[in-house]
Amino acid sequence: MTPATADVLRLTDRINRIEPSATMAVVAEADKLRAQGIDVVDFGAGEPHFTTPQHVKDAAIAAIQSNFTKYTAVPGTAELRDAIVHRHAVDFDSDYRREEAIAATGGKNALFNAIQVLVDHADEVILPVPYWVSFKDIVRYAGGECVLLETDEAQGFRVTAEMVARLITPRTKAIILNSPSNPSGAVMGAEDMTEVVRLAHERGIWVLSDECYVYLNYLSKPFSVGSLREYKDHFIVLGSLSKTYAMTGWRLGYALGPTAIISAMSKLQSQSTSNPTSIVQKAAVAALKGSQECVEKMRREYIELRDHVVKGLRSIPGITCTRPEGAFYAYPNVSAFFGRGEVNSASDVAGKLLREAHVATVPGEGFGTSDHVRVSYATSKAELDRGLERMRKFFAEL
Ligand SMILES: Cc1ncc(COP(=O)(O)O)c(C=O)c1O
Repeated sequence: MTPATADVLRLTDRINRIEPSATMAVVAEADKLRAQGIDVVDFGAGEPHFTTPQHVKDAAIAAIQSNFTKYTAVPGTAELRDAIVHRHAVDFDSDYRREEAIAATGGKNALFNAIQVLVDHADEVILPVPYWVSFKDIVRYAGGECVLLETDEAQGFRVTAEMVARLITPRTKAIILNSPSNPSGAVMGAEDMTEVVRLAHERGIWVLSDECYVYLNYLSKPFSVGSLREYKDHFIVLGSLSKTYAMTGWRLGYALGPTAIISAMSKLQSQSTSNPTSIVQKAAVAALKGSQECVEKMRREYIELRDHVVKGLRSIPGITCTRPEGAFYAYPNVSAFFGRGEVNSASDVAGKLLREAHVATVPGEGFGTSDHVRVSYATSKAELDRGLERMRKFFAEL
């Protein structure tokens, strides 16, 4: 590169503050092996193995056929915003109005926009560990600083208001909650969530509640902070159709929050992505307003897969694994293997496991812990068995 081109290519501080998503990196490496003809068992991907329900696909096709293919209002059609509000009210007894809802191009886009409108330079955002990879980078992109809230694996990675309170400073702007959690599968109890929201209300900070796995709760009735109506001026609910309806590629997420925040997010969206795809909006209405039986069916199957993978992982000598209570990830602790076969970290384990046993997992470092790998069990039982067998052999020979 000549000095002149280097000068032209000088990138902004904000893009240099962030890193590519760790999960995407694993997908890329597994794809590379596959392109070489190698049979990879993929426990890396963070998406349902189910196909999108037929009635949702039909609605998208009908939208195309009826030429519903033009720009829509930036925050989504009134029909879709009403459907989001209605679904949430039925499921969680929330009382949002259309103006308090915005549809975005995926849950990640909604989260990104929420953080951009709330977090300023040097603001602190409390982030429980382990955290979903993108939280940290999205906060950093906005110029904020993440204050990590360490949790205890033996306590199921529990987050309490007391733990949050200890980290609040005059610079604290928000806390991010994610229950059920990616990557640990931990579910926050309704009481703990309520206490954190109450604390945020008292101390004048925001709760950003990423509830994209809210319906994949295997422990109890799904709980949304949105049901805590009296505190609603201090939290934003972030949701997604990706996991609930097996619609990852469609890119439809949403946020529910105070009108001023939603309007600011809409302003940002008007200067970036504009409306989510018109056709997808019609499909989303069908998903939200149609029968929810498909969601329950998938949830039941995930429970079986969860039981299967936890049993399999725990049967591998040296591996310990907390029991995930939601989402579709197991988060086994592999630290017992550190020091063996040139393996000294979760990244080493995941790298070697992929290169030598051809099983893709995501190393814990991207989620803020160094002793774990994330195993996505959103796949068939047969595929789980194939991968578990390879892992058993790999760890036995390490
Ligand atoms: C915790 C969490 N939040 C948000 C998202 C974003 O999902 P999407 O952008 O597909 O709606 C994901 C996706 O993996 C996630 O795991």
